Amino acid sequence: MPTVDHSPAPRLIVALDFADADSAVALAQRLDPSLCALKVGFELFVVAGPDLLGRLHDLGFRVFLDLKFHDIPNTVAAACRAAARTGVWLVNVHASGGLQMMQAAHEAVREVNDHTAVLAVTVLTSSDAQTLRETGLQRSPEAHVRLLGNLAIAQAGLEGLVCSAQEASMLREELGSGPMLVTPGIRLPDATGDDQRRVMTPESALKAGASAIVVGRPITRAADPAVAATEFAHRLERVFESH
Ligand code: C5P
Repeated sequence: MPTVDHSPAPRLIVALDFADADSAVALAQRLDPSLCALKVGFELFVVAGPDLLGRLHDLGFRVFLDLKFHDIPNTVAAACRAAARTGVWLVNVHASGGLQMMQAAHEAVREVNDHTAVLAVTVLTSSDAQTLRETGLQRSPEAHVRLLGNLAIAQAGLEGLVCSAQEASMLREELGSGPMLVTPGIRLPDATGDDQRRVMTPESALKAGASAIVVGRPITRAADPAVAATEFAHRLERVFESH
């Protein structure tokens, strides 16, 4: 059984978007688990599986398993239960899978432990009004994010949401201070956005209501990832110190 980490949750989550386990572990070894958590997504998990999660836990990191489950309630519950057994800190599902699916996922995780948090993805930031119309939804993306955010938090009782930093202040107003809001699409003021369309700085994301930010390439592709991660983490700390 993995041990429970009672230290305060880091506000920086580094996206380990690598194609193999050794590259991911090599990067993790250069980072400090007291400054950041790590996110494992589809490609890396398909290649490296739960063994990699164990290696990252052994290095002392909290892990966000970003697999965005979306299937019938029983199947999603089983996947989330299996994820909780690996001891991950965060696991996520698509809110559009519906209330019953999210409740089943949450109950399954709670059967295993009380420290794995379940987050919901509302509307992917790659989706716009046209994407929603293609799938039969006439609502605006913002209205749909609001509806799904309420479904996930107020009704299903999940711990938080993955959302764009642009949506964070609206979701805070709607849902209050309780839920964890995790926001990707973060860049330093002078950086390029890579393929991200709408980016925010770490400071503005936190001020908008984010609880934690996800940063990938600005850290993983930096000349010195440890230095880059420290800069992001210190910027986040300074926002909190100034409040
Ligand atoms: O390299 P970069 O900082 O853009 O990486 C962001 C990470 O967050 C990637 O793993 C990406 O898949 C993820 N993500 C995102 N936008 C979303 C949801 C997840 O960029 N809306």
